[in-house]
Amino acid sequence: MNIEIIKTNAPKEKPDSANLGFGKIFTDHMFIMDYSREEGWKNARIVPFGRIELHPASTVLHYGSEIFEGLKAYRRADGEVQLFRPIENIRRMNNSADRLCLPQIDEDMAMEILTTFVECEKDWTPSAEGTSLYLRPFMFGNDETLGVHAVHNATFMIIASPVGSYYKEGINPVKIMIEADDVRAVRGGTGYAKCGGNYAASNRAGERAEQKGYSQVLWLDGVERKYIEEVGAMNVMFKINGEIVTPALSGSILPGITRKSCIEVLKSEGYTVSERLLSIEELEKAMEDGSLEEAWGCGTAAVVSPIGELAYKDKIFTVNGGKIGEVTQHLYDTLTGIQWGKIEDKFGWTQLVK
Ligand code: PLP
Ligand code: COI
Repeated sequence: MNIEIIKTNAPKEKPDSANLGFGKIFTDHMFIMDYSREEGWKNARIVPFGRIELHPASTVLHYGSEIFEGLKAYRRADGEVQLFRPIENIRRMNNSADRLCLPQIDEDMAMEILTTFVECEKDWTPSAEGTSLYLRPFMFGNDETLGVHAVHNATFMIIASPVGSYYKEGINPVKIMIEADDVRAVRGGTGYAKCGGNYAASNRAGERAEQKGYSQVLWLDGVERKYIEEVGAMNVMFKINGEIVTPALSGSILPGITRKSCIEVLKSEGYTVSERLLSIEELEKAMEDGSLEEAWGCGTAAVVSPIGELAYKDKIFTVNGGKIGEVTQHLYDTLTGIQWGKIEDKFGWTQLVK
C-alpha cells in the first residue's frame, strides 16, 4: 500500500527515560488514514504529531463510536527494537470494530501500517530498564450528522508514547478495590471490545477507589454482581490453594493478550490454569482462610502487576503479606524477558522492527 510520509522539520528532544510515567509524552509523528463506505480506506499518511480537526457533529463526539488498541515496542539489549504479538492486537481491533459497526482493516494492511509507523518512530524507543514505546492505534466514527446509525466515515490513527511503568508502584504490589455498585459490562454488551465507552463508564468507580487510596477497581459481573471479572486496565489471576484461576472469557471481559500469554507460559511449564467462574464468596473465603496465595493483574500497560491488598465493602485483605508472589514474579520475569529479548522467545511471539 502507499503510505505518504511527511517528516517533521522540528523534531523534539527525546525525554529522560528515567521519569517517563505513562502516556504523557508523544513522538514526532502520527499515522492517520480516512475511510468512507464508498471508497474504503484512503489517504494513508504519516505526518508530524499534532492536533486534528473534527466537525462538531462528528459521530465520535456524540455517540462514542471509538475503539483502540495498546501494544508496545521494546528495545533489546543489542539495540534492536521488537514488537510483541502485534497480530493479536490487529485481530482484536477488528473484533472491536465489528461490535461497534466500525470498518475492518485488512490484517496484512494493518501490519504494514503498524510496522511502517514503528520504523519511522523507532528512535523514540527508550532503553532504560522497564521502559518501552507504547503504541496506541485507534479508530473513530466521523460522520458529520446527528443521526444514530452505523458509521459511513471513519478515521484510523496510531500515536506513540515512550513509557515507564503504568502504576506509580512499578513492580511493587498495588492495592485494588472490589466494586460492589457500578458495573462495567454485561454479556451481549461491549465488554469484550476495546472501546472508549467501557472506560468512560468505569471512571466513577475508579475515581472513588482512587480517593480511598486504591489504584484501580476490580469489577464483578454486571448481572449478579457475584463473579470476578477484571480490573480497570488489566485481567486478573489468582493462586488459590495451588490452583491458578482466572475468570473465563464470558463476553463481558477483555480478552487480554497478556492474559493469553500468561496462560500459555504457565501451561507450557506444566501448570494447570482454570479459566472458570470465580465468585466473590469463594475469593472472600480464600482471603479469610489464607488459601489465597497470590493475586496479580496482567495487561500491556500494567505488564504483570502483583496485587498486595484487596478491599471489598468494609473488609480489607492483605495478599501474600503484601509481597510479590513466586508465580507472579516468574510470569513477570518470563514475559518481560521475552519482550526485552533477554530470554529465548520459544513461542515465536516477538517481531523485529527493521
Ligand atoms: N482488561 C482491560 C479492561 C484493559 O484495558 C486491558 C488493557 O489493554 C486488559 C484487560 C489487558 O489486555 P492486554 O493484555 O491485551 O493489554
Ligand atoms: C493497555 O494496557 O494497553 C491499555 O489499554 C490499558 C489502558 C491504559 C486503558
